[in-house]
Amino acid sequence: MKKRILFVDDEVNILKGLKRSLRPVRDLWDMEFVQSGKDALDLLEKQAFDVIVSDMRMPEMDGAALLKTVRKKYPMMVRMILSGYSDQEMVMKSVKSAHQYLSKPCETQALISAITRACSLCDFLNQEALQTLLGGMASVPSLPTVYLQIIEELNSPGACAKNVARIIAKDMGMTAKVLQLVNSSFFGMKDHVSDIADAVAFLGMDVIKTLVLSLEIFSRLSQDALSVICVDEMYQHCMKTGAIAKFIATTEKLDKKIVENVIIACVLHDIGKLILCQYYTDDYKTVSALVADENISFFKAERQIFGVSHAQVGAYLLGLWGLPVDIVEGIAFHHEPSRSGSHEFELCGIIHIADRLERNEYSPQNSIETIVGLDIPYFDKLGLSARIPLWQEGIAKI
Ligand SMILES: [Fe+2]
Ligand SMILES: [Fe+2]
Repeated sequence: MKKRILFVDDEVNILKGLKRSLRPVRDLWDMEFVQSGKDALDLLEKQAFDVIVSDMRMPEMDGAALLKTVRKKYPMMVRMILSGYSDQEMVMKSVKSAHQYLSKPCETQALISAITRACSLCDFLNQEALQTLLGGMASVPSLPTVYLQIIEELNSPGACAKNVARIIAKDMGMTAKVLQLVNSSFFGMKDHVSDIADAVAFLGMDVIKTLVLSLEIFSRLSQDALSVICVDEMYQHCMKTGAIAKFIATTEKLDKKIVENVIIACVLHDIGKLILCQYYTDDYKTVSALVADENISFFKAERQIFGVSHAQVGAYLLGLWGLPVDIVEGIAFHHEPSRSGSHEFELCGIIHIADRLERNEYSPQNSIETIVGLDIPYFDKLGLSARIPLWQEGIAKI
């Protein structure tokens, strides 16, 4: 079915330009272009849309106000903001209701791919339960502020690592946590790093960005939610999973880009648990009880209670927030890589095995059938089953 996209901008020329440059996709999308927030809302009363892309700075009703109303009335719609660099402050104001924002001027291809990605992910994870679940949240989880500031900095013309370091350094708690992580065995640094700027230089922007994102989400948990989930234990799990995954990816001599993505994806792989626990604390208590009483995995218990798992919830949000599609897919299938349809040993499979080895005490002398929750058909299909005991031997040494 054709996707329906609504564009809102008060400048006629910009709308005209959009219309012209998006002509190549008119067979894929039904597009409408309107000049004000009011026109957009009027049109939405009459017709349903999948995505709304709004300008930020508009007279009467700005993009932030428009998306806020849209969120309330049509929570399932994907909401994007198109804004200029000078609107930084206003963008910050709007983030609470925008899923993603794009900088103006935005190249047509970038715009098309951002919208396509949001749509295909919606299809891919299109389960009513998931959409109702996220749509029903009182406030839709938005991109964390420090993370957003970093993205803004990276998108700005004079972007540099120093400025990024400065943004992180403003938040003392964040600084301490980033440094603690950087110096942990996970990253295997020889010298102690005590300066954020060095950390940024050493780890690279993508990794730092992810750390900030995950730390901000971890720090959002309410007191009540903290009684259900042990954040420290979970963070440890993510870091250890990352170290194991990195070892496996390097051992298998996978592409450098995959190794980099592996770290990022592992840091974020269980983020869906935090989101579910934060927004549906009581239901998550039931999940926890199910896990304990029936000795099943969180993944299965979540499906029983919510109809979806943390893998889908996490992937869905990260996708809307604009993380690379490889990472989003890796996270979506990290408990069932067979379902990804991939014929190569990719992110979802690497996170899966690392996560299973981290959670299970597996001895290489035993059959891999003793690893609880392992997707054995996946490794059989790729001819990698015999490698698992060898990986475990290596991991035991690190
Ligand atoms: Fe998981
Ligand atoms: Fe996990």
